[in-house]
Amino acid sequence: MDDARTEKEIILRVEDLRKTYPSGEATIPVLKGVNLTLRGGESVSIQGESGSGKTTLVHLAAGLDLADSGAIYWEESDIMKMRKGSLPRRRGGFLGMVFQSFHLAPELTALENILLAARLVGRSVRTAKERAENLLERVGLADRGHHVPAQLSGGEQQRVALARALINRPRMVLADEPTGNLDERTGDRILELLLENCREEGTSLLLVTHNKVHAARTDRQLFLHYGQMQAESI
Ligand SMILES: Nc1ncnc2c1ncn2[C@@H]1O[C@H](COP(=O)(O)OP(=O)(O)OP(=O)(O)O)[C@@H](O)[C@H]1O
Ligand SMILES: [Mg+2]
Repeated sequence: MDDARTEKEIILRVEDLRKTYPSGEATIPVLKGVNLTLRGGESVSIQGESGSGKTTLVHLAAGLDLADSGAIYWEESDIMKMRKGSLPRRRGGFLGMVFQSFHLAPELTALENILLAARLVGRSVRTAKERAENLLERVGLADRGHHVPAQLSGGEQQRVALARALINRPRMVLADEPTGNLDERTGDRILELLLENCREEGTSLLLVTHNKVHAARTDRQLFLHYGQMQAESI
């Protein structure tokens, strides 16, 4: 890592994170003391076999689930100590999420899906609309804003989901296999858009992927193995 990046502010810090799931009488340890740091503008990929805990980690990092122990900092705030009511509002402005299955509201148009994310953090549609239209243009869907998800292909829906994730100018994007349901070419385009956003807006990216080529395009590659984070493949 170069010196300039070392000095960049920390956007996400995960410390000794542990998570178990109940399984009948027993518990299954999934994360066994995970540490991770993501800095401003940095892209980091996480690979690991199916069931190794990648999605669990992403959900915890997003504050969507509770860890057993450890700490998660968004910039300087420990989200595990944040008041419950303030977390969703902070999340809306701080992070954008992209999932394998696009999770768009089926009854809303592409533009309305994007604007909903702005409304959820209390922004007026009027102020968000221009950026939403810019984002649709950036992802190559300027003329599809009034189409509902069923009228869009998978790759187009994922581009809408990406525009939605970016509408509030998040500091960080968490992407959990965002290209997992897409053909190679469409998937490559989504990856390019994610990396372009890091470069142009200084957003940090945490990318879970099974695609080695995509992982190699990020600044750092990490591997989740038996519930612990490794810097090298095993
Ligand atoms: N809500 C839950 N209750 C019980 N076990 C769970 C729950 N969610 C996940 N698990 C278990 O935790 C382990 C990690 O799951 P997770 O979804 O985080 O894996 P993953 O690395 O994302 O896998 P994949 O690459 O297949 O998406 C798995 O063994 C899974 O069965
Ligand atoms: Mg997963």
